[in-house]
Amino acid sequence: MVRKLKPEEQHWCIDPETGEPIINKGVANVCIDKTTISFIDGYHSKLYYRGYSIEDLAKYSTFEEVAYLLLYGHLPTKKELDDFSGWLKENREIPDEVVDLLFNIPPDIEPMEMLRTAVSYLGNLDPGRHDLSRDGIFRKAIRLIAKMPTIVAYFYRIKTNQDIVEPDPRLTHAENFLYMFHGKMPSKLHAEAMDLSLKLYAEHGMNASTFTTVVIASTLSDYYSAIVGGIGALRGPLHGYANVLAMKQFEEIGSVDKVEKWFKENIETRKKRLMGFGHRVYKSYDPRARIYGEVAKKLADEVGGDVKRIWDIAFKLEEVALKSKLAEKKIFPNTDFYSGLVYMALGIPVDFYCTLFALSRVVGWTAHILEYIENNRIIRPRIFYVGEVDKEYIPIEKRG
Ligand SMILES: CC(C)(COP(=O)(O)OP(=O)(O)OC[C@H]1O[C@@H](n2cnc3c(N)ncnc32)[C@H](O)[C@@H]1OP(=O)(O)O)[C@@H](O)C(=O)NCCC(=O)NCCS
Repeated sequence: MVRKLKPEEQHWCIDPETGEPIINKGVANVCIDKTTISFIDGYHSKLYYRGYSIEDLAKYSTFEEVAYLLLYGHLPTKKELDDFSGWLKENREIPDEVVDLLFNIPPDIEPMEMLRTAVSYLGNLDPGRHDLSRDGIFRKAIRLIAKMPTIVAYFYRIKTNQDIVEPDPRLTHAENFLYMFHGKMPSKLHAEAMDLSLKLYAEHGMNASTFTTVVIASTLSDYYSAIVGGIGALRGPLHGYANVLAMKQFEEIGSVDKVEKWFKENIETRKKRLMGFGHRVYKSYDPRARIYGEVAKKLADEVGGDVKRIWDIAFKLEEVALKSKLAEKKIFPNTDFYSGLVYMALGIPVDFYCTLFALSRVVGWTAHILEYIENNRIIRPRIFYVGEVDKEYIPIEKRG
């Protein structure tokens, strides 16, 4: 006899006091493990990597140092940093097979989709791809952190019919990326802005893409599969791709005098989401957005032109939004609101912005994979069944 389930048949989901199912939609506020990698204090605009505030790391550190800190758990000594930076430099070149692949990927494929494919292919070419030991993961992580910028820069050069520019081992991670991308040495200000962006995007707790990588690693699948999954999750408009859509939204507004009308029509009346605003964890201003905003302003003043026009729109939009109902609902700018402006000032086309996020977040993904599988348990949540059971199977010819 067809029937609905009784609550006790899914007792693991039922609150014994209310008799109602406990459902954490979107896995909100569920802790899947303990961590020492980072902490977000979402009520007081604070973010710490391994206990160090993001403001201090932004001001005093470099991407290489932050990557070391996140992966190994402590700030490196001079020797440790030199060794680590050296390994990254040695690993920047990509195999010819991957260069050929980049030539064969249609130029209209989104850079994030290209990156997903290229990272997967790099995995195919790695004989140690199935090695999930700690050393094996460190080796592969250095390979990916070093090679992903080369993949992105080469794809851009190929897509725009320019010669590829090989990595230069004399340059830092940030300088080298801009050098390969544009074919010329970046200014000090631009290299610093790139380095800052790599630090700000490197890690952010158990966000959707990090969770994806950890879910995949928890099945004891391979490291490359986990990272490919992370890239796929990051590409979503509600996650990393918001930095692309925030910039498209500023362009759609067009000029600063149109901001208020656009906001009223789109956000207040049509209830569209304001891209680059809102966060699952921050119920206060995202500290990274504040840092990105300051640098974007500096660069906009320096570069002028279109960058300044977009900066004026973004700044006005923030002002209008912070006086609206969004602020009452604790919806503030997040890291993706101003990061695109920084990239625009660095001369990077908008469709590449999410890949720049990935180049950096691969560090956080790796740190969490390493930490989680150290004491692994497969991630396997439940879902509450509200359908029927014991239905009679009707042969197809009798279904009408
Ligand atoms: C990041 C984000 C997905 C978090 O989502 P979440 O924690 O699940 O929050 P919800 O989607 O449940 O939203 C809660 C409420 O705030 C509103 N809200 C959240 N973000 C909003 C935004 N950017 N613009 C307008 N309203 C927003 C929702 O409409 C919802 O309103 P309701 O309660 O009246 O229905 C969400 O804020 C968002 O879509 N932001 C825009 C995309 C973005 O910038 N992503 C990058 C994040 S770093």
